[in-house]
Amino acid sequence: MGLSMKANTKIVAIVGPKGGVGKTTISANLAIALSVLGKKVIAVDLDLGASNLHTLFGIRETKATLDDFVLNKIANLPDIVLETSINNLGIICGGNVPGIANLNYNKKLKLIHNLSQLKTDFVLLDLGAGASFNVVDFLIIAQEGILVTTPEVPSLLNAYSFIKTLIFRRLTLHFKHSEQTVLIELLDKARDFDSYPKLKTMEGFMEAVNNINVAEANSIRKILTNYRPIVVVNRARSGKDAETGKVLQNLMNQYLSIKSSIILTVREDAAVGTAVARLKPVLLEAPNSLFAKDIEMIARVLHSTP
Ligand SMILES: Nc1ncnc2c1ncn2[C@@H]1O[C@H](COP(=O)(O)OP(=O)(O)OP(=O)(O)O)[C@@H](O)[C@H]1O
Ligand SMILES: [Mg+2]
Repeated sequence: MGLSMKANTKIVAIVGPKGGVGKTTISANLAIALSVLGKKVIAVDLDLGASNLHTLFGIRETKATLDDFVLNKIANLPDIVLETSINNLGIICGGNVPGIANLNYNKKLKLIHNLSQLKTDFVLLDLGAGASFNVVDFLIIAQEGILVTTPEVPSLLNAYSFIKTLIFRRLTLHFKHSEQTVLIELLDKARDFDSYPKLKTMEGFMEAVNNINVAEANSIRKILTNYRPIVVVNRARSGKDAETGKVLQNLMNQYLSIKSSIILTVREDAAVGTAVARLKPVLLEAPNSLFAKDIEMIARVLHSTP
């Protein structure tokens, strides 16, 4: 959500707090859709410890991986980018060394810094499931975040808690940066909203901040106004499934004052399973499938935003 970084390489983090909702499938095919639009793309497998992005491109054996970079065996990140058979599209394979999943903060920063220096238009990060700081921090540093969910209620609620965790983490970092200890304490109270019902919504929280520090209240509102998460409801089987994204949108609006989320839908499609079984990306195997059309829509949204 845009903490930093120069603008010419756009880092897009693909996350989903629940396992198996389609993060990797969407990352791989979105990378292809963007490359078809003429953009240079590098897809990065950041599901450290459980990497499988390469298999969706039909790559069976990984040569250099993120392990080599993180463990300082290879000093330059560009040296671990593998070319794929697709024009404009490179991939960085995930590592498999146990323990690497918990990169310390400095290693994470170094990695993100190096990713932002890659000579490419888009860097797509396929992140692991869950809402650990490992995942959340990458999302905070990225310019765009795509949150993948399925239409089922538990998955939607997971997605909502994830966004809430993200907002709290973002505000905590902001207050730490401006050394606003009192506001950090207020934020802690907002986590325990049963005891502090007035802080249950971000509107209530901002009102309380406003009583302490007007400038800070304004800057929080700015952070929330500028935050525009892209939510993808994947494996939608019906129009009703597609509508569930609106429920999430309303929750984010009402409780978190996030007004400009974008909801997109990717339909359930048997072409996905067929392509995976043949070790071929769906977009190449079935370019006219419903799935391909929906992925192209996400690519156009990313492509058209500044
Ligand atoms: N739109 C779709 N239609 C049909 N099948 C799909 C669709 N999206 C994903 N799948 C299938 O769902 C399964 C899980 O997808 P995927 O591995 O991309 O999820 P993930 O979120 O990356 O999982 P993990 O949390 O384990 O990393 C795969 O078998 C994939 O082929
Ligand atoms: Mg995955």
